[in-house]
Amino acid sequence: MRLRAGVAIDLGTVNTLVYVSGRGLVIEEPSAIAINRSNGQISAIGRSADALTDKEPQNIEVVHPLRDGVIADLDATVAMLQAFLRMARLRRGLRRTTAVICLPSEATWVERRSVAAAAEALKPRCSIRLVDEPVAAAAGAGFDLAAGSGAFVVDVGGGTTEVAVLAGGHVVRARSLRLGGNVMDEAIMNAVRTQLGLLLGRNAVRTLKMMLGLGDGDVTEAETVGVDIALRTPRVDHVPAKLVAAAVEPTVKAIALTVQELLADIPPNLAEEVFRGGIRLAGGGAMLPGLSARIEAVARMPVVVVDDPLRCVIRGAARILEHDDLLARATTG
Ligand SMILES: Nc1ncnc2c1ncn2[C@@H]1O[C@H](COP(=O)(O)OP(=O)(O)OP(=O)(O)O)[C@@H](O)[C@H]1O
Ligand SMILES: [Mg+2]
Repeated sequence: MRLRAGVAIDLGTVNTLVYVSGRGLVIEEPSAIAINRSNGQISAIGRSADALTDKEPQNIEVVHPLRDGVIADLDATVAMLQAFLRMARLRRGLRRTTAVICLPSEATWVERRSVAAAAEALKPRCSIRLVDEPVAAAAGAGFDLAAGSGAFVVDVGGGTTEVAVLAGGHVVRARSLRLGGNVMDEAIMNAVRTQLGLLLGRNAVRTLKMMLGLGDGDVTEAETVGVDIALRTPRVDHVPAKLVAAAVEPTVKAIALTVQELLADIPPNLAEEVFRGGIRLAGGGAMLPGLSARIEAVARMPVVVVDDPLRCVIRGAARILEHDDLLARATTG
């Protein structure tokens, strides 16, 4: 291992994480930027920008520049990354900084170009290395990429779910579904609105999702506070676990089906290694109550949620950044 002047970036739909060589994880913030409408200046970034979402301050526009795992607003992405790197206080070195950036495996050429363009606009100037997210997730999940062995990872993020089979640092089969935690949140929000006549804010919805999930636990309902649609006043209500489970079911079904499809397509030479290594679940969505049991039921093989799933991709990206052999093998551009 050799420490290089480098930075690894997990540019997620919901969260952005930045790791700097020799210093560790320095940024872990929501992917959000707040812009003052009257003068175009950045008024907040990350957590403080995200906190303004849905609160509708008159002169502030809150932008989440990524959608479904890819850049939806290039200018806002550049501004956000630039601000995060300023917060990270990257030092200018004699040599160009290597920047490892993670992307969904099925990102199109145009999407890859837009990420590279965003990164090329950063200061200090970086030499950009793009890594497929499942490769970083596998490295972060503890698979030994250098040994060339098989790995099966599922990364359930806010905007995308990556399901992939790898051998060494290479993707053998991968599917990138443009759905994840955000789609679950919308479905819960809509179900509570139509069935209970209650409008919920984003944090209330996320709390319900994290507490109830697929409803396989002992909790049968959870208390929440929203705005009554008819009276337009705040109201406390109890949301049945079944309502939340039904709302997230289509997303969970799509993920489980994709896992089944990829398992059915594993090259026979990788089958034993994949079976013995088990399926590893990463990303924030991996913590959805009941998800790992559901995937285990369809896959009929061991499924584990990795330690600290929200940081799995950045952990792997950092390993890739700091190992020359992995860097050479894992980068796509
Ligand atoms: N305990 C939990 N149960 C269920 N979902 C959770 C939990 N904790 C976080 N999440 C969800 O995980 C998602 C964020 O995960 P993550 O940070 O891995 O996504 P991301 O990397 O930003 O997105 P993407 O990889 O899709 O671009 C959010 O939708 C969040 O609500
Ligand atoms: Mg992610």
